[in-house]
Amino acid sequence: MVNHIIKAGVIGHPINHSKSPIIHGHWIDKYGLQGTYRPIDISPENLQVEISKLIREGYAGFNVTIPYKQSIFELCDYVDDVAKSIGAVNTVVVKNGMFHGTNTDAFGYIQNLKFHNIHLQKHKPAIVLGAGGAARAIVYGLLEEGFDNILITNRTIEKSYDVLKIDEAKISVLPWENRSEILQGAGLVVNTTALGMTGKDPLDIDFSGLPIDCIVSDIVYAPLMTPFLSDGQKRGNPVVTGIGMLLHQARPAFEKWFGILPDVDDELVRKVLA
Ligand code: ATR
Repeated sequence: MVNHIIKAGVIGHPINHSKSPIIHGHWIDKYGLQGTYRPIDISPENLQVEISKLIREGYAGFNVTIPYKQSIFELCDYVDDVAKSIGAVNTVVVKNGMFHGTNTDAFGYIQNLKFHNIHLQKHKPAIVLGAGGAARAIVYGLLEEGFDNILITNRTIEKSYDVLKIDEAKISVLPWENRSEILQGAGLVVNTTALGMTGKDPLDIDFSGLPIDCIVSDIVYAPLMTPFLSDGQKRGNPVVTGIGMLLHQARPAFEKWFGILPDVDDELVRKVLA
């Protein structure tokens, strides 16, 4: 029997912050697979050459992190509809020497909400704070899940209008200054900005008008309990931390390369938060 080792990894610059090697390494061990998953630091001037090398080295594929989610989109031979709508690729599968790009961030966000068995109020407004790449993925995921009233608010309003193009009938843009008022009647609010991350200012928002059953979720996971989530929790709102999106977005990528849809267990959560 040929001992075929499946190779995968994550490309970025820098790459030492990435939690993906811990996540995929945990699953390779857990399922007893012959596989490797490596962090691959590529500097921007070498991007095209270095990713071509991965084909020659027999890689099954790779994840893509900062700052390459848009550049890889351009370098892929095929990009699926999810990645096209989000405008970024976070997962590449190599098939017959060609790059097939997709994006699993929307899946990650929605699956994490479901994993927590939280009732989703799909016809109430879902408020998305921020309009970067993560916001685009979350908006796409919410629309796919059946949310039909999404309110985007971002410090730089022009970027909100880019997100609006995903589905103008179901998305509205509101000024950043109004972020507290628009919480009234909301069924879900998600922070996709960098605010609240260790070393950054907290997100300044007033929860007094927020319905008590509104889900409060964050994509920041360092710290796990951001001031935004703590404020929600103190009032009794259901809160969802940011670590789950990171873990769940990795699952379909792992499945594409290694052939098993892995699960998120407590040990994995502990390893990633350690
Ligand atoms: P990601 O891909 O993680 O979404 P990004 O594309 O850099 O990262 O987006 C970061 C988000 O955080 C943006 O919505 C950004 O707002 P701007 O578009 O106005 O830059 C938001 N953000 C970062 N720092 C912020 C701050 N101090 N106040 C408000 N929003 C901030």
